[in-house]
Amino acid sequence: MDVPEMHSDLEPIAFLLGRWEGAGVGGYPTIDSFNFGQEIVFGHNGKPFLTYTSRTWLLDEAGARVRPLAVETGFWRALPERRLEVCLSHPTGIVEIYHGEVVFHKIELRTDVVARTSTAKEYTAGHRLYGLVNGNLMWAYDMAAEGQPLQSHLSAELRKVGDFAPEAY
Ligand code: HEM
Repeated sequence: MDVPEMHSDLEPIAFLLGRWEGAGVGGYPTIDSFNFGQEIVFGHNGKPFLTYTSRTWLLDEAGARVRPLAVETGFWRALPERRLEVCLSHPTGIVEIYHGEVVFHKIELRTDVVARTSTAKEYTAGHRLYGLVNGNLMWAYDMAAEGQPLQSHLSAELRKVGDFAPEAY
């Protein structure tokens, strides 16, 4: 089956499509800081949303993968007037809905709703910035969790390692 052309509503966020790989740093007042590697894949199937999956790994000082860290997956829904709705699901018992907007190659997302299973950590809000800088995808993530106010948990820089491959969808 042929994959349809990209939906025109996706034009403002089309720069995200493809496979990205890179590394970042993480921390929080309640945990030790760490280095991580990340792979993000954005795809589409002709409808007005992007599919999204992120995988991460703990990195040692030499940059080698030690073990898997967080995984998250969901959908980036493009709306008129460069607005976005993003639904993300985490294996840690958390689901979140973000509202946001795209300005040129910069995306800002804030949680509208967070839901947690009874065993999930006490996470209440997130704020994400994504930007294309010199062709690389930079992103930064602030969270409110474990009684702490909204503050940095992660930031990373990824380079494009593959174009969108329609046969994967
Ligand atoms: C996407 C990449 C992410 C990476 C690499 C990452 C990594 C980590 C690491 C290594 C820890 C400390 C050890 C642990 O509890 O496993 C941690 C703690 C935590 N993370 Fe993340 N995380 C990521 C995303 C997220 C997201 C999206 C959320 C919320 C939805 C989140 C919420 C938390 C919370 C609540 C803690 C516990 C803090 C505490 O126990 O005091 N993280 N993260």
